[in-house]
Amino acid sequence: MSDKTRPESETPAPRRLAHIKSFGCQMNAHDAERMADLLAREGYETTDAPDNADLVILNTCHIREKAAEKVYSEIGRLRVRKEERAAEGKETVIAVAGCVAQAEGGEIMRRAPAVDLVVGPQSYHRLPDLLKSARSAKAIDIDFPDEDKFEHLPLPGKKRIMARGPSAFLTVQEGCDKFCSFCVVPFTRGAETSRLVEAVIAEARQMVEAGVREIMLLGQNVNAYHGAGPDGSVWDLARLFAALSEISGLERLRYATSHPRDMNEALIAAHRDLPKLMPYLHLPVQAGSDRVLKAMNRKHKADDYRAIIAKVREARPDIAITSDFIVGFPGETDADFEDTMRLVREIGFAAAYSFKYSPRPGTKAAEAGDMVPEEVKTARLHALQALILEQQTAFNRASLGQIMPVLFEKPGRHAGQIAGKSPYLQAVHADIPRGEEVSSLIGRIADVRITELRSNSLHGEIVSPVGEADRGGMAA
Ligand code: SAH
Ligand code: SF4
Ligand code: F3S
Repeated sequence: MSDKTRPESETPAPRRLAHIKSFGCQMNAHDAERMADLLAREGYETTDAPDNADLVILNTCHIREKAAEKVYSEIGRLRVRKEERAAEGKETVIAVAGCVAQAEGGEIMRRAPAVDLVVGPQSYHRLPDLLKSARSAKAIDIDFPDEDKFEHLPLPGKKRIMARGPSAFLTVQEGCDKFCSFCVVPFTRGAETSRLVEAVIAEARQMVEAGVREIMLLGQNVNAYHGAGPDGSVWDLARLFAALSEISGLERLRYATSHPRDMNEALIAAHRDLPKLMPYLHLPVQAGSDRVLKAMNRKHKADDYRAIIAKVREARPDIAITSDFIVGFPGETDADFEDTMRLVREIGFAAAYSFKYSPRPGTKAAEAGDMVPEEVKTARLHALQALILEQQTAFNRASLGQIMPVLFEKPGRHAGQIAGKSPYLQAVHADIPRGEEVSSLIGRIADVRITELRSNSLHGEIVSPVGEADRGGMAA
């Protein structure tokens, strides 16, 4: 019975409101969804407005100094609102989750008395208990528990899954054992673990039954996936993709983030053999100088990266390659940076993220001398970003006039438009054909002819009768 038809006397007590603000990577964004699912079971409804929330969770990121600093300014703002609400007789619980919680939980509790609860990324399935304890005293849980948190997290129902749209995340791997010398992730997310094949497939099936058409497998090192299979053997990511490809109704598979060292032959072959595996690879290289790569403890050379990309392109010539870069790593010279620029020119990226090196507590590189001056980092970042933007524009321009299958995800920015993604993860807007509606298009794949290149997206017109492409095209 919906709330509207419920007799007055049965109207439930007002639900409590929770606001979750997430920073950082896609894994964090997905963790926020899982926390929302867990809280729904506890009677919380999520809201976009922090001011009215009874519970505010900051789901934090520790990757660079700027990201981590945001936490304290956010807490400052929340503290003011908490005091205002207290004057109105309302209680507000402030919780800090995510990677800053894991790295600096104790310090947060000391520095920010307004915080009631701290929970790390591996223990947020314990949120309901922590919320209960937080009523009487401050609660903190930054363990790396033995149990698999996913076993304790409720799978959302059909309605919740559909509300998030036809493209969804599914975590298959967490943590990192690679210890790149600049990176906090091995400390905040713990050791590499892979979920069981059966658990992943069951979750994927449930999502597809609810209407999901595209699944992005997530992991800090997703291509290091090595999950126990139902037959007792260890499955790699390629084998997992092959099994997921069998799920009818699931049209598109993606994955992020990968490490060059784990890009095995089977995964490269999967890009050739599995039509549902989208032609898109995010493969961070970080730098183009072997000296810098060595100091970063990446354990691969620039030429190894070139060789991997060549093989991937042989398997899937149209694949979009994207990457991450750090400029101004300690000791990086002009010549080292030029090696990065040369690598970028040679590879040709569809897009890339680039960052100034930020020293992080507890990491090897932060102890090194020879820090690169800020203005040099800034100049290198600008040069690299300009080159990447040029390549990104060229990649998108090459789509003009092409017909490509687009998975529609949500209404477009303007009335009469629908927005979706190309196989290459480009945002595409299309006009809604006469006789169709936004709601009937969402979750469908249709062929779109790209007619225009705009600053952040492509624009096109639907050319296949809607529904044709999902039968004949991608799913074939
Ligand atoms: N697991 C992924 C990415 C992790 S973090 C991988 O192995 O590639 C995402 C990106 O942040 C990294 O690829 C790197 O480019 C950047 N990054 C990580 N630590 C950083 C630091 N200390 N300073 C600047 N950028 C950093
Ligand atoms: Fe960080 Fe390196 Fe692990 Fe990626 S592989 S999460 S950059 S330590
Ligand atoms: Fe940030 Fe943690 Fe992700 S440090 S990038 S939120 S794994």
